[in-house]
Amino acid sequence: MNTPVEGFSRLSKAEKIDWIATNFTKNPEESRQLLQQYWNTDGKVQKLHDEFIENTVSNYYLPFAVAPNFLINDRFYAIPMTIEESSVVAAASKAAKFWLNRGGFKTTVLGTEKIGQVHFIFNGDFNKLQDFFSKIKPDFFSDASSITKSMEKRGGGIKDIELRDLSDKVKGYHQLHCTFETLDAMGANFINSCLEQFAQTLKEKANSYPDFTQKEREIEVVMSILSNYVPKCLVRAEVSCPIGALNEDDISPTEFAQKIVRAVEIAKAEPHRAVTHNKGIMNGIDAVILATGNDFRAIEAGVHAYAAKDGSYSSLTHASIEDDIFKFWIEVPLALGTVGGLTSLHPLVKLALEILQNPKAEELMQIVAVAGLAQNFAALRSLVTTGIQKGHMKMHLLNMLNQMGASESEKLQLVQYFKTHTVTNASVKEALEKIQSE
Ligand code: MEV
Repeated sequence: MNTPVEGFSRLSKAEKIDWIATNFTKNPEESRQLLQQYWNTDGKVQKLHDEFIENTVSNYYLPFAVAPNFLINDRFYAIPMTIEESSVVAAASKAAKFWLNRGGFKTTVLGTEKIGQVHFIFNGDFNKLQDFFSKIKPDFFSDASSITKSMEKRGGGIKDIELRDLSDKVKGYHQLHCTFETLDAMGANFINSCLEQFAQTLKEKANSYPDFTQKEREIEVVMSILSNYVPKCLVRAEVSCPIGALNEDDISPTEFAQKIVRAVEIAKAEPHRAVTHNKGIMNGIDAVILATGNDFRAIEAGVHAYAAKDGSYSSLTHASIEDDIFKFWIEVPLALGTVGGLTSLHPLVKLALEILQNPKAEELMQIVAVAGLAQNFAALRSLVTTGIQKGHMKMHLLNMLNQMGASESEKLQLVQYFKTHTVTNASVKEALEKIQSE
């Protein structure tokens, strides 16, 4: 029990399951059955999933939903969302419907530049390094030509390579700071392959550069890797309408608009609130990122760094009232792909992209930004009016009833009952016990 295992990856799937169930679970037979129950009955689909990652023993399902009625740049979209949290899809759909009659969402891609860096140590004369870099710069491009050829044919490739001196931060630390255009690919493999080639060119050329001393020739490459911080791979999404069109129950349009603007001001000023505010935005963004097979960890890391770009963590969305026009917008960095990676492998990802009419990466950036903005609008709309719990607990009701083991007919009765009663954990428990005892 709990002893290290040799060669786990080489065990068959059945053997892996057996080992994990026997050694780490209370009821090995039940665990075995559970893991197998989540296998896909189509062997081909299962094999595909087995091979996405290593040591696969089962599948982990998340709901795949659709939020309809998004009007973006005068075109209709139904947005696929993959997420476990109740209320998120309902909130997105509600926000989409709200803005449908108020002109919809308008979006603009502000840039598509991706970044990668070769981090290296050079101990010597920086002026000499600069001369060396200027002389060999064309070699970086030509040495990488076999990697960049097909990307260049499609209009992408390496945009620039810059030498940066960061030796004030870490002794001898310098960088090749490189920018790329990767079109519809997220581009991680392309960028990393280019960077590793740049690193090789850098070392080789330095080694035989006559103006360097022996010490200067010995450039140490620490690492070559893309950056997930992409502040120039940026998209903006916006909604706006005359204040009078913001008709809500129990609150005047002006007060509603002012409360939203103030809620955004608070998220701009105060990091605790900003984090939660942005978390709500990521509810929408991550759900579309996951459904479309993109890398949500990369997006999360880059987005939060962007939220802190001015020195303190702040809101990703903005709101204003000018000349009686309410405006609400987001600017967010999103390095996305609609080709490569999971996009052509995962059957549901393919379907999600088809539902979105097979967008180019730039179009997907716009759709994802809209999902984030819609989510934030829906959250703020509830927060500054009824509060979040009313809607949230209603949506969460089925989860609670499932957890409490309610039957289908009990669920039907209680969903009906709670249309006019407040949902809390205690009230649901009490109502369920009451009908069970009747
Ligand atoms: C919950 O998942 C997201 C919210 O907390 C976002 C927010 O507070 O703005 C409702």
